[in-house]
Amino acid sequence: YSLKNHNTFGVDVSARYFAEVSSAEELIEVLKNLATLQLPDSPTHPLFLGGGSNILFTKDFEGLVIQLNLKGISEEVINDNEVQVTAKAGENWHEFVQYCLRKDYGGLENLSLIPGNVGTSPMQNIGAYGTEIKDCFVRCKVLNLETLKVENFDNEKCRFGYRDSIFKQEGKGKYVILEVTFKLTTKNHTIKTEYGAIKNELEKIGVMNPTIQEVSKAVISIRQSKLPDPKVIGNAGSFFKNPTISMEQFLAVQKNHPDIPHYPSGDLVKVPAGWLIEQCGWKGKQMGNVASHKLQALVIVNATGNATGKEIFDFSSLIIESVNKQFGIELEREVNVV
Ligand code: EPU
Repeated sequence: YSLKNHNTFGVDVSARYFAEVSSAEELIEVLKNLATLQLPDSPTHPLFLGGGSNILFTKDFEGLVIQLNLKGISEEVINDNEVQVTAKAGENWHEFVQYCLRKDYGGLENLSLIPGNVGTSPMQNIGAYGTEIKDCFVRCKVLNLETLKVENFDNEKCRFGYRDSIFKQEGKGKYVILEVTFKLTTKNHTIKTEYGAIKNELEKIGVMNPTIQEVSKAVISIRQSKLPDPKVIGNAGSFFKNPTISMEQFLAVQKNHPDIPHYPSGDLVKVPAGWLIEQCGWKGKQMGNVASHKLQALVIVNATGNATGKEIFDFSSLIIESVNKQFGIELEREVNVV
């Protein structure tokens, strides 16, 4: 079964078996019958797929891929300024954000146009332009793969961090997220425009007191201006996490590069991986079928549409090596490599 249309890199690999499920019951049914297929016993097996926007397949998958297609949105009014909205895992993230904006529910507007599905959003605590989903997240319903029982994870239990959650740590491979509930505002919205790029964009179009819909439009316009559309050119957004380094190490780098952008992160300093990669000369550079995006070095693209996962992986290794050599900073991949 070809996975080419199931990963936003557009890598042409196949899975030995493929199943699509549209409810928790169907999923449980498939999992109960797993033993009847002779399939590999590995930590990534079976492989659960959402929007395929944060995954790099480096070879054919010799097992079962389960595509999570659970759909539906429901809501419950909490008080005269808050509503809880629950979306099933298979809802497309951006369409869900747009649904909320049409209803004038505030909280997710800064996260407009992020590729992927609702069900994978808690995994890496998706974030952009000054917001992370943990800011609005109430709970998610998950299937425990060991017991096949449904459990609830509240915000605290998810242990959200920068591009991180329990589902990437101790909980890795143990749960499937079935639905996610967010708490959104219905009247008094908190408008978040501190992020420089949003401020600039709103100034450009002459908007002083933006609505949540206008914030969303600004974010969409920023993203479209520098992030490649995966439907046009294969990519998985940021390929690496922005590294956090010690103050000492930061000061040493800053000495030679006074213009290095940086953000405080507790006692540590976060620096943009895109900047580091650009300094090493990778921005816009193509090798074979793979390139670093010309407008955002942090994004690796399938430049010709014919890249293999291995080529993309090897390209990312060269970037890691080069940043390490020049700055002594070890970049960590954000994308899941399978
Ligand atoms: N920069 C460069 N060269 C580049 C790219 C960036 O010098 O090629 C510099 C920029 O000039 C700026 C700084 O790095 O000073 C930060 O750049 P940007 O605002 O584009 O954000 P980022 O840190 O590169 C992160 C997220 C993005 C998210 C943006 C906006 C990570 C790994 N990435 O990127 O998330 O959209 O902030 O909030 O944290 C994603 O996860 O797929 C993603 C796109």
